[in-house]
Amino acid sequence: MCGIVCYVGSKPAKPILLEGLKQLEYRGYDSSGLAIHDGTHIECHREVGKIAELERKLNNMDIKGSIGIAHTRWATHGEPTEENAHPHRDQDGNVFVIHNGIIENYHSLKKRLEKEGITFRSETDTEVLAHLIGLNFDGSLSEAVRKTMSQVIGTFGIAVIHRQSPGEIVVARRGSPLIIGVSEDGHFAASDVAAMVRYTNKVVHLQDNELATLTVKDFSMSTAQAKPIERSAETVEWRAEDADLNGFPHFMLKEIYEQPETIKNAMRGRLETGEGVPKLGGIMPVWDKLKDSRHMVIVACGTSYYAGCVGRYVFEKLTEIDVEVELASEFRYRKLNFAPNTFVIAISQSGETADTLAAIREAKRKGAGLLGIVNVVGSSISRDTDAGVYNHAGPEIGVASTKIFTSQLTVLNLLAILLGRHQKLSLTEGVEAIRALEALPDQVANVLSQANHIQAIAEKYYKCDNWLYLGRKYNYPIAMEGALKLKEVSYIHAEGYPAGEMKHGPIALINPDMPTVAIAPRDEIYEKMLSNIQEVKSRRGPVIAIATQGDERIREVADDVIEIPQTLSFLNPILAVVPCQLLSYYCASFLNRDIDKPRNLAKSVTVE
Ligand code: G6P
Repeated sequence: MCGIVCYVGSKPAKPILLEGLKQLEYRGYDSSGLAIHDGTHIECHREVGKIAELERKLNNMDIKGSIGIAHTRWATHGEPTEENAHPHRDQDGNVFVIHNGIIENYHSLKKRLEKEGITFRSETDTEVLAHLIGLNFDGSLSEAVRKTMSQVIGTFGIAVIHRQSPGEIVVARRGSPLIIGVSEDGHFAASDVAAMVRYTNKVVHLQDNELATLTVKDFSMSTAQAKPIERSAETVEWRAEDADLNGFPHFMLKEIYEQPETIKNAMRGRLETGEGVPKLGGIMPVWDKLKDSRHMVIVACGTSYYAGCVGRYVFEKLTEIDVEVELASEFRYRKLNFAPNTFVIAISQSGETADTLAAIREAKRKGAGLLGIVNVVGSSISRDTDAGVYNHAGPEIGVASTKIFTSQLTVLNLLAILLGRHQKLSLTEGVEAIRALEALPDQVANVLSQANHIQAIAEKYYKCDNWLYLGRKYNYPIAMEGALKLKEVSYIHAEGYPAGEMKHGPIALINPDMPTVAIAPRDEIYEKMLSNIQEVKSRRGPVIAIATQGDERIREVADDVIEIPQTLSFLNPILAVVPCQLLSYYCASFLNRDIDKPRNLAKSVTVE
């Protein structure tokens, strides 16, 4: 959730670290700080609030040095105060540490250190790391970090500098992502590629229980047991301009508008229209088992979970596989009992969500095969699964997920069509499905062309404090996702409900101040949705309908209609979610919310 960026090179560290922090700000952002080594001294500054606050503080300061570590924090232990912000130092001010993750035995370590005469300055778990590294230092920073790794329980991605080791940064990881960046004039380390993509696209992934020492010229890696590691750098697809707004006021809007392209990218090179069979090279390692599997469990969190919920209906329609979907945070604590040849599919944008990672590790222990649908190449989930499919959607910066959701749905459809073609779909059905997928990018562009109309609807209703989203079957998860999106970015209370359940509770809330977004494309349960809309109208509740182009009947009942093009019923979610995203965006915009960095939320939740 917090972000780490470090640099050791030939250029001044301050601007590079600040720039990196800004790129990471979406991960977590209640305070930030940096420490820079000038060869003799280490200068450390921290500030509460956005990175802009830290930048303001450092504006007129001439901070020399080209080695530094920087951190943006999302509080877990202790309030977001300057004392609790990272970097943390040891008693003598020699060691400076930044940390993502949670040290679970910090309480007992802290008590022990206090007995030994150490005074703590903060309420954080991280500070124990600084003191331990300080006490363990005996001339070699990497050895001090290695020893400390053996003393702590929990998760960490850390970066450390020491006053007496002027030329180096030591980084280590257990459970929190850390990536090394290799460039012409030095080395980077960061929790996320976004922090260094302006300077390099050559990266090396540190794995759990590994550490690395970075210097201007070189880097070396070893295991916690001091076994040297050789790993060559990979080239990441992300481009520096991915991290720019390109004229859009917010990343969320930019990413909503990128969807025709990102849906195309999810399908690029993967469609064999004539055969009606998608090609997914990433799942070939497990294909023999997968094609005969009849049981799957999809695990995910947040928006990725709702993609999984749509996926269940799609698999049900196109394959002979029984699919369960479960929130990873619940699944990981269940008593698991898999049928033979069960596959667990983890869906995750970041590939680093702690609960999803823990869920697949548990599933592996119990004998399930593992697949990943992941956007970030080389991320933990992509490595810990047996096989998978990448989204290839480029970085998603806005905290509220948009383009990745539609990309996840596209990939789930590809997977279901591929498996379905081996199980029950005819050639004609396969070809029809692929043709419909191919039409989606233009159809999404068509929905986007109604942005002004959707903005006007948002203007009409953004002052309403409570919203209801209704959908059935494929679009029930879209109702959930629509409500989540509105909550996340506008802070308006919204509930997503299966329309059939409305009579069992939410109908009591309906009144003229509570808009209902009814997702009602022309599909097999359209008539049922129409009845639910009538029920809302009879109680004088305003209805915003998301309906298929040319649907005149719905215009007679709904107050406002947003049209989506005609497609196959199981593909409707990909089109229907786009108006929901825009509605949330515009409501948040009318309410002057901090759209890309909503309060209390983080893009990547790497703690439980
Ligand atoms: C956080 C983000 C959501 C995201 C969820 C799961 O809550 O704010 O946008 O859907 O994590 O993240 P993942 O990276 O696993 O898809």
